Amino acid sequence: MQLIQNLEWRYATKKFDPEKKVSKSDLENIKKTISLAASSYGLQAYKVLIIEDPEIRKKLQPESWGQSQIVDASQLIVFCNYTNVDNQVIDDYLKLKADIQNLNLEDLKDYGDFMKSKITELPDEIMKAWTAKQTYIGLGNLLVACAELKIDACPMEGFSPEGYDNILNLSEKGLSAAVIATIGYRSEEDMTQHSKKVRKPIQELFETI
Ligand SMILES: Cc1cc2nc3c(=O)[nH]c(=O)nc-3n(C[C@H](O)[C@H](O)[C@H](O)COP(=O)(O)O)c2cc1C
Repeated sequence: MQLIQNLEWRYATKKFDPEKKVSKSDLENIKKTISLAASSYGLQAYKVLIIEDPEIRKKLQPESWGQSQIVDASQLIVFCNYTNVDNQVIDDYLKLKADIQNLNLEDLKDYGDFMKSKITELPDEIMKAWTAKQTYIGLGNLLVACAELKIDACPMEGFSPEGYDNILNLSEKGLSAAVIATIGYRSEEDMTQHSKKVRKPIQELFETI
């Protein structure tokens, strides 16, 4: 399976070559792959920021444990979850679904009421955790897309969500930084690329019942 070879090739890149940039067409393919990620009810309750601006990235670096990938990679990708999913968000989704699938919006009312009953009453913290979890599926798709395109990437949780929310004015848009990734090309000096992958044996990770 070519996918397995691609995933063996990839690694969480610690040092990027700041001179090498991801092409526009590769970036479009990565965006498309993220957009095709599955999400709960199909709501895609997040937004993805692609940050190229070096000044903003310089400001974000101290909020990211000082990690060099933030400024050296070609792009910094910030997955931001919506902190509240209200009736309007669900109605907007149903309208989109009706338009795309050529359905009668009224026929989706029961489904919409069901979704609303399950989602809108969730306590704040559970709602935020639920929308944040969706972003990780997008992150997974990003990593797979990058591996296929032979673009290096580093998934990252080593950052302060509050710091990012402030610098990027996310709260006023109802968003919060959930997880980030940097993409670009590995530096020859990044010794991590020579390390063997550390994974549990398959028979330990899986159990068939
Ligand atoms: C959600 C998540 C957060 C991570 N955060 C960081 C990070 O902040 N900095 C970093 O250098 N690597 C980070 N990593 C990379 C992991 O350490 C790496 O994926 C793991 O050690 C396995 O190695 P591999 O990805 O090279 O196969 C993160 C990975 C994931 C999935």
